[in-house]
Amino acid sequence: MQTFLRGRDLIGDLDFSKEEVETVMDVAFDLKRKRALGEPHPYLRDKVLAMLFFFSSTRTRGSFEAGMAQLGGHGAFIESNTTQIKHGDTAKEIGEIYGRYFDGMAIRHCDWGLGNKYINEVAQASRTPVLNMQCDIYHPFQCLADLMTIMEKKGRDLRKKRIVVSWAYAASYLKPISVPQSLILQMPRFGMDVVLAYPKEFPLMPEIVAQAQEQSKMFGTDFEITHDMDEAFDDADVIYAKSWGPLLTTTDPVEGKRLQDMYKDWITDSRRMSLAKKNAIYMHPLPADRDIEVTSEVMDGPQSVVYDQAENRLHVQKAVMALTM
Ligand code: CP
Repeated sequence: MQTFLRGRDLIGDLDFSKEEVETVMDVAFDLKRKRALGEPHPYLRDKVLAMLFFFSSTRTRGSFEAGMAQLGGHGAFIESNTTQIKHGDTAKEIGEIYGRYFDGMAIRHCDWGLGNKYINEVAQASRTPVLNMQCDIYHPFQCLADLMTIMEKKGRDLRKKRIVVSWAYAASYLKPISVPQSLILQMPRFGMDVVLAYPKEFPLMPEIVAQAQEQSKMFGTDFEITHDMDEAFDDADVIYAKSWGPLLTTTDPVEGKRLQDMYKDWITDSRRMSLAKKNAIYMHPLPADRDIEVTSEVMDGPQSVVYDQAENRLHVQKAVMALTM
């Protein structure tokens, strides 16, 4: 167990070693048990987390704010448009100043080409830990919750379990690529074979895929890429199918929508789920475009674990905050 995490940032999925992620899992399971038993666990009494949002949220905001209260502290919600950031406060100012007011800072900034850079600049200037609530490249807390959920459903030894990280059609908006990127980076470290599926116009960042392949080689797991959704689902233990934008192909939303609309048949339905193992689970970080990305029959069906996933955001985030702040 590697427990020396005090003062550390979590911005990219590989910032914590595998052993450190295992520690996060141990603490998260303990905190989940404590909450179920009603045992108080005020590890962060009198501490305050700044939660700075440049993008909307249901789960991330709710779980960080509730998590800080349950740990005996407070989460201060700050919507970026209500600050002086647009009037000149730079990332350096935010890091320097909020780092002096708060005991930790969590930031969501998903703008393509900007978000990760901004969070790193704040972290460089901040004297307290900076946590990434999702950027253009990574969504590390979602991925930790996903890992915890897979461990709950499939056991802590995930060697040779096959996870499909698949693109799916959505009509609402061009979603960030951070969730699939985080998944392909983290899951090989826990022994999972990864199948990455997407239409050819929807690749992930080549440097992230190369890093994921490197992790896969290091941990002796398989890593496949396919452009056929049916083929990907074959014999899978975990189906993680969600939409993302064609950001590496175009950043023009009109052209992006045109490309997206070419693949309306990339939906998770009961026929596709039947191609996977009988006891396969269906995962999605939410929000989902119901009956477009995934049928309601699958999302509300017995194989879906989407609400456990959403719940586990709370427990993993509390674990990381308690260990780092
Ligand atoms: N999965 C997730 O990050 O949800 P929100 O966008 O609602 O925070």
